[in-house]
Amino acid sequence: MAQLPQLDPASIDRLLTIELARATERAAVAAARLRGRGDERSADRAAVEAMREELARLPVRGRIVIGEADDADSSHLQVGAELGAAAGPLVELAVAPLEGATLCAKDMTGALAIAAAATSGTFLHAPDSYMDKIAIGPGYPEGVVDLDRDPAENVRALAEAKGVATNGITVCVLDRPRHAGIISTCRKAGACVRLISDGDVAGIIFVTDPSETGVDMYLGRGGAPEGVLAAAVLRCAGGQMQGRLVLETPEQRASALRHGLTDPRKKYGVAEMVTGDVVVCVTGVTDGPLVDGVVFDKGRIGTETLVYRSATGTVRCIGARRRASV
Ligand code: FBP
Repeated sequence: MAQLPQLDPASIDRLLTIELARATERAAVAAARLRGRGDERSADRAAVEAMREELARLPVRGRIVIGEADDADSSHLQVGAELGAAAGPLVELAVAPLEGATLCAKDMTGALAIAAAATSGTFLHAPDSYMDKIAIGPGYPEGVVDLDRDPAENVRALAEAKGVATNGITVCVLDRPRHAGIISTCRKAGACVRLISDGDVAGIIFVTDPSETGVDMYLGRGGAPEGVLAAAVLRCAGGQMQGRLVLETPEQRASALRHGLTDPRKKYGVAEMVTGDVVVCVTGVTDGPLVDGVVFDKGRIGTETLVYRSATGTVRCIGARRRASV
């Protein structure tokens, strides 16, 4: 394993970029081998194991703060797990080795492998609960939309800020019965509603690049850890997001309290969910509007990874080809 002498904490994200991309590439390839097999669990396990092996080679001490749930089968990427070098600076890791396991199992668009790294104390330690979320892309005045406003008002405000009629706004929403109100209100306001069956990290990332994805706003309730991962991308690529934890069980409330999240009504913005510089890697498992999925072709494997770095706002697209035997 390569040792990095005299690691400067300020440039950890820069040094870890390629290490993190390797981890998401490997997780994506492992999951993609099981695309369309109808077996979410095996695809998820394969992605977790592949990512764990790669993160174990990190030249720094990595601690998982957003990861697999405590009850995940024999996962080594549970919150609190440490990987990488035993000594050296501590780096926090937020990971989703297979975001959208159902999408992968059904070989549908939008399954991703994601990993983010930052210095200690950067990520909101979100409990394993839901979060209500709203997100828009870069270039809008601060506060143009708000989680506490009626969805129709948000559609109208965003349309005005974008300089279009409300029918020029597309809102991405997870297709769930709980979102029936949001969906009908947005449609009545004139907006197009893009329904996704899973994978709201991707749904939120879509808003960072509306010219590619066609999505202007994300609205709805999904996983809180996924909310923090999405906020990490927005911290790099720009845009606004608000998330409010939905603490339904005593365990969730206790977990939130343990991490000092004492106000259950608090709306967390991007800079509160990810308080400092971060690097995020996103590799496609299946094809999607922003990244292509893994390609298996004549003994070679191709991956596509977006690498986001907040310090400079750089978004790199890394295409990789490797021998299938590696
Ligand atoms: P998994 O990859 O763990 O299956 O999560 C997929 C996902 O769609 C997330 O993107 C989203 O935040 C959450 O599940 C929504 O939860 P639910 O399926 O309970 O509505």
